[in-house]
Amino acid sequence: MSDPQNQIARLRAEIAEHDRRYYQAAQPVIDDQAYDRLKATLAKLEAAHPEFDFAASPTQTVGDDRLDAFASYRHRQPMLSLDNTYSAAELMEFGQRLLRRFPDQTLTYLVEPKIDGVAVSLTYEDGRLVRAVSRGNGIEGDDITQNVRTIRDIPDHIADAPAILEVRGEIYMRHQTFEQINAAREAAGQPLFANPRNLAAGTIKLLDPAEARQRPLNIVLYGIGACEPGNYFTAQSEIQDKLKDWHFPVLEKVWLANGIEAAWGCIEELDTMRQSFAYPTDGAVVKLNQFALQAEAGYTSKAPRWAIAYKFEAERAETRLKEISLQIGRTGAVTPVAILEPVQLAGTTVSRATLHNEDEIRRKDIRPGDTVLVQKAGEIIPQVLSVNLDQRPADSQPFDFGAHLKALGIEAERDPSQAVWRIVRQDDPVRQQRALQHFASRACMDIENLGTAVVEQLVQRGLAQTPADLYRLSESDLLNLDKFAEKSAQNLILALEASKQRALWQLIHGLGIPQVGKQSAKDLEASFASLEAIANASEEQLEAVDGIGTIMAQSIHAWFANPDNQALVQQLQAHGLNLQSSRTQSSGGPLDGKIFVLTGSLPNLTRDEATQMIEAAGGRTSSSVSKKTDYLLAGEAAGSKHSKAEKLGVPILDEAAFRALLEA
Ligand code: IVH
Repeated sequence: MSDPQNQIARLRAEIAEHDRRYYQAAQPVIDDQAYDRLKATLAKLEAAHPEFDFAASPTQTVGDDRLDAFASYRHRQPMLSLDNTYSAAELMEFGQRLLRRFPDQTLTYLVEPKIDGVAVSLTYEDGRLVRAVSRGNGIEGDDITQNVRTIRDIPDHIADAPAILEVRGEIYMRHQTFEQINAAREAAGQPLFANPRNLAAGTIKLLDPAEARQRPLNIVLYGIGACEPGNYFTAQSEIQDKLKDWHFPVLEKVWLANGIEAAWGCIEELDTMRQSFAYPTDGAVVKLNQFALQAEAGYTSKAPRWAIAYKFEAERAETRLKEISLQIGRTGAVTPVAILEPVQLAGTTVSRATLHNEDEIRRKDIRPGDTVLVQKAGEIIPQVLSVNLDQRPADSQPFDFGAHLKALGIEAERDPSQAVWRIVRQDDPVRQQRALQHFASRACMDIENLGTAVVEQLVQRGLAQTPADLYRLSESDLLNLDKFAEKSAQNLILALEASKQRALWQLIHGLGIPQVGKQSAKDLEASFASLEAIANASEEQLEAVDGIGTIMAQSIHAWFANPDNQALVQQLQAHGLNLQSSRTQSSGGPLDGKIFVLTGSLPNLTRDEATQMIEAAGGRTSSSVSKKTDYLLAGEAAGSKHSKAEKLGVPILDEAAFRALLEA
């Protein structure tokens, strides 16, 4: 057992890493309950050892969601977190503490659903929405106005409003939307999003609002930050009604309770009805109702002393794992899925659970026929937590991934750098289908009328195996397919023709090189003159590109070294597809080849408008400041990019200087 100082340091580092994954990457690797347990262990240790300075400990600070690519903005009133508990006894202690503080009062609490979304603060000035900011570190957050404006239920104007008003709430994604998005991804052979909360968090931090619009989000508001003049409210319970008057979406139900025991009764009632709410509800927030008492109770460094979150335990159930099914993705990656005896969990019937990869199966020693504990927390995709060894059949054998693949006739190899098995044969029909679906998808070559059903028929009938085959298709080939008439065949031929002019990054993304997603494809286009230059680049040259790491560089290099892929690239070239980077296609514009980074809000231009102006003048934008950046276009609240540009000597332009440059 290590000494407490070491243990504290290790836990702090571990929690900081989980915070980064949850708040910044929107890709947590542990569930809320496991995270809260880690934090509770750390808090206990710190309480026993006050000698180890803990001002900066994650137990005392608010998890930070800020990203470099966004301008930061200071909240007028801090956005704090909440202390939380899973225990009714601790909720009672919270009530007792407040009673000791206010002995002569009847304490009234407002009990609200706790929404499992992403916190946001909307600023209205003279009744007009001017800004949306994420929680950030509680003091300053990211300016996410552009993406938040894509949420339809936010009023742009509110009547009879105070001069300055910060409205606080949560952005979330409806279950139904989430399921639709994942179904489309599954059909396209793309990896699935883990849960609505992570998808919502990732979506509001997309750099392209047009892309954010493709993933509909909702919002619910429950609180007020700054309010000037400040005589609007005297109690928490008044906020809901006022927000409703202003046409904000509000909580479906809140309860006023006299005393903490009554509040507990409301929480129990909430638990019975929360499945029917539009938003994911993972607990209750109990708030002392009167603002005068809230002010007296005050705050710790990260949370109010007048409120607490009670979180419901994630739902778990035991069921039998019937088989481990292996699914094939666009790059030929094989993903294991548990096929379960259907079981009721968190309001839905669960019959599948993710098993992640071979190592996960081995670590938990999960075997077909086992009775397993399944959990569905915030995750829509349930997880297998553990195996009930008492129920294991006597003849059970460990799951042998490789042997299983062989038995299914799938020729796959394990990627030495990862836990992933991948199909070896390029001509495996399922792999071909996934690859073509991906190539044709919106985020890649955007080929209209080339959906899953068409791709499936093309592969099954031997009409297309690789993307190059698509460009050989004739109208008469297509007329033989189900549901194809002359018009639809012509349309598809036209769509294929149009796709030849797509930007290079769309083609790179469409090729399905393992590890290379949309952003990396854009990074590659920005750094090389053509696909040929990328194909000829060494691993070192690839790794020198901003945003490309060692593993990705190796993967790209290996992909282009494969003779089948070399032949594919040659054929695409022969069909006349665009293989040139837009940076080499000289526009003759005043910003030809110049790389801009945008930060902060400009007085008269949105980020989109500025980007369009830069691109129309022959320049391009990048997400981060580096030595290669030609200009930083900086508005109000420019944040960390401003200081980085200053450090690197990158010229910084305001809107006026930018316009002057365009006219030069
Ligand atoms: S009140 C000063 N009410 O939960 C405290 N927060 O775990 C302000 N949350 O940061 C928060 N539902 O993002 C409040 N009904 C609700 C909530 C709620 C969800 C979020 C909020 C907060 C986090 C803390």
